[in-house]
Amino acid sequence: MLNEFEKIGKEALDALNKVANSAQLEEFRVKFLSRKGSVTQMLSKIGSFPAEQKKQAGALANKIKQNISKAFDEIKSNLGENAGSGGPMIDVTLPAAEIETGKAHIITQTTNELLEIFAKMGFDIAYGPEVEDEWHNFIALNIPPEHPARDTRDNFYIDDKTLLRTQTSTIQIRVMENSKPPIRVVAPGTVYRPDTVDATHMFMFHQLEALVVDEGVSMVDMKSTIAQFIEAFFGTGVKWRLRPSFFPFTEPSAEVDLLWVDKDGNGNWMEVGGCGMVDPNVFESVGIDSEKYTGWAFGFGIERLAMRKYGISDIRLLYENDVRFLRQF
Ligand code: DAH
Repeated sequence: MLNEFEKIGKEALDALNKVANSAQLEEFRVKFLSRKGSVTQMLSKIGSFPAEQKKQAGALANKIKQNISKAFDEIKSNLGENAGSGGPMIDVTLPAAEIETGKAHIITQTTNELLEIFAKMGFDIAYGPEVEDEWHNFIALNIPPEHPARDTRDNFYIDDKTLLRTQTSTIQIRVMENSKPPIRVVAPGTVYRPDTVDATHMFMFHQLEALVVDEGVSMVDMKSTIAQFIEAFFGTGVKWRLRPSFFPFTEPSAEVDLLWVDKDGNGNWMEVGGCGMVDPNVFESVGIDSEKYTGWAFGFGIERLAMRKYGISDIRLLYENDVRFLRQF
């Protein structure tokens, strides 16, 4: 008899688990919980047990009844208090939960914009590895072993001959090793330097490199390309200048400064990159005839270009991943 009770209990729970709408729930109630229902009937049988078994039978039957009632109430409330016979009620006037989508980081957006500008000017795009050897990062770029730029304190070395690249100029070498002039290429990439972090310095940032090699290429081509690029990226009216400088891989060399006017009207020149005519020693290391070909190159800091364009005064804002900042772009 007690086995019979357990069977009824199991049958009821199985049936309850299959209930998917209020109509089925009502069907269940009639079959198991109404006056003639099998669970109610089970309780009425307790009286017919011999006295010594009554207590045990009553406890079991009540436990089964309670379990089923509890499960029944739960399903009823899940289906919705006011559920009609068609199923749970859905309030179609409630505003939908907002689906948040991600988007490209401002530096990725800026990089893509720069690449588009140069693609329109006829440049190809090249990439190179972030873990570099000393040939591409230094030697081929005319930076000899005793040069201070190779100091272990100024570079993230991985071993004696391998490091995280400090400049995208490495890609110039890779391009020239793998192709013949005429060359007209831009190369974006991440670079790493153990700099002390402040408003304009990071230990990791991005550069856009350019390299043009052909017969008769001159500094005038370089200057007019930079001018066109600055106008395309910032619009007209942005002041910039070339300031004589030194890089081992270019001769002559210059730095590019942009005029930054703050909200009080004070102007400051901000360095955004370096450029120059490719040094004949560099051509020699990649086997390009420096008697026949000339070339120019530049490397711009992408963060600084973005900061100037969008009026961001601190580079650290770019990498704090504060969505209130990131959402603005
Ligand atoms: N690689 C230099 C740097 O990271 C920037 C640079 C200067 C790149 C002159 C060039 C160049 O291509 O011609 O500081």
